[in-house]
Amino acid sequence: MKALFAEIDSLLPTEIYGRVTAVKGLLVEIAGPIHEMSVGSRLLIDSGEANPKVPAEVVGFREGRALCMPFSGLEGVRMGCKAVISSRESVMHPGNAWLGRVVNALGEPIDGKGPLSNGGVPRKLRSSPPPASERKRVGPPLDLGVRALNSFVTCCEGQRMGIFAGSGVGKSVLMSMLARNTRCDIAVIGLIGERGREVQEFIEDDLGEDGLARSVVVVATSDESVLMRRQAAYLTMTVAEHFRDEGNNVLCMMDSITRFAMAQREIGLSIGEPPTSKGYTPTVFTELPRLLERAGPGVEGTGSITGLFTVLVEGDNHNEPVADAVRGILDGHVVMERAIAERGRYPAINVLKSVSRTMPRCVPPEQLPVLRKAKQLLSTYTDMEELIRLGAYRKGSDPTVDEAIHRFELIDDFLNQGKDEATSLSEGYLQLANLLEMTLD
Ligand SMILES: Nc1ncnc2c1ncn2[C@@H]1O[C@H](COP(=O)(O)OP(=O)(O)OP(=O)(O)O)[C@@H](O)[C@H]1O
Ligand SMILES: [Mg+2]
Repeated sequence: MKALFAEIDSLLPTEIYGRVTAVKGLLVEIAGPIHEMSVGSRLLIDSGEANPKVPAEVVGFREGRALCMPFSGLEGVRMGCKAVISSRESVMHPGNAWLGRVVNALGEPIDGKGPLSNGGVPRKLRSSPPPASERKRVGPPLDLGVRALNSFVTCCEGQRMGIFAGSGVGKSVLMSMLARNTRCDIAVIGLIGERGREVQEFIEDDLGEDGLARSVVVVATSDESVLMRRQAAYLTMTVAEHFRDEGNNVLCMMDSITRFAMAQREIGLSIGEPPTSKGYTPTVFTELPRLLERAGPGVEGTGSITGLFTVLVEGDNHNEPVADAVRGILDGHVVMERAIAERGRYPAINVLKSVSRTMPRCVPPEQLPVLRKAKQLLSTYTDMEELIRLGAYRKGSDPTVDEAIHRFELIDDFLNQGKDEATSLSEGYLQLANLLEMTLD
């Protein structure tokens, strides 16, 4: 009933509409009562009985006209078409019934499991993060089930981490391991601008029935409109906020945040924003923190949103603008490297280059010496790697290097983890301590 009342409240009492006066590429210009519209308002462009109505969103204004972008194709749209305002704000009504469901960026079910009932409270798609002064601090370490991350890049409840890698290095596979194995109450997963083929594989094989039962999956594949791709990211976060406010510890994952940035770039360029580095427009760099800051611990009395976002680093350049911006916003980054994947070690995480900014405070003191030792050995080996491979290092010249060579394979085996394996936090530390012949006390 609550949901129904909310729906009735959101209906506009009279039909207010403008008319299409121009279409330029993806942009539709609307003339008429533009004082009734604001950025984010929803319109339905009516191009006659033969065509379905085209949902669109106001993205800007110019010379007395509203600039809109469609959520689907513009087939059939002509000059003078009616554009009816359907809602003044972009809001969505996620509810508990969404659990176990797969939705598109408009919140419509796409899993063939029948209609979806909405929650009672309307939530803004572009809400603000909770006030910084009222937010709780990050919680205890979160078990991600992946040894390399649990031991070397420990993530806490309410922390936000980026997974950075070039294309085909294993981001999506790592994401699927995390979706299945992380110890959280609810997982909200946004598949943004990725391949259509991967969606079913992810839901059926990677997540499985049990995984899906505690998840909500939001999908916008690469062939969908830019607005759908951008909105899928906002909706993912909005659904996560709903479950956080119900007191859950939510895992919010997006694959990938780069596609969100690319969608925002396309929208920005269409409405005439100046391109800056690599064609990214200034709003990309204002929207990224506005989106990512919404993840994190909630205020007192609510749960938290742990954020894991993949970032595609173009051309394996970890300093490209989106990667740089995201790294600066988040509380940690996981670096995956092609060279490691090429030698067949998966997940191809370079633990020496990965950082968790909450790490020193959240790791139990007895585990710190083990971690320090493992890192020392790995970095000694990495420094000497070329000499060792060339045969220029003579065994016995330096005891630390000898030990590093001896242990390297063991640590590398420890970091290697099959797709279907899961190791808990404490078990991982125990294994690491054992292979270094240290004790945890
Ligand atoms: N844990 C793993 N075990 C075995 N193979 C793996 C593992 N992780 C990744 N791979 C291999 O790497 C390939 C690419 O992985 P994935 O699709 O996750 O890359 P990606 O970084 O998401 O790529 P893109 O940026 O193109 O989406 C997989 O098809 C698989 O063959
Ligand atoms: Mg991928």
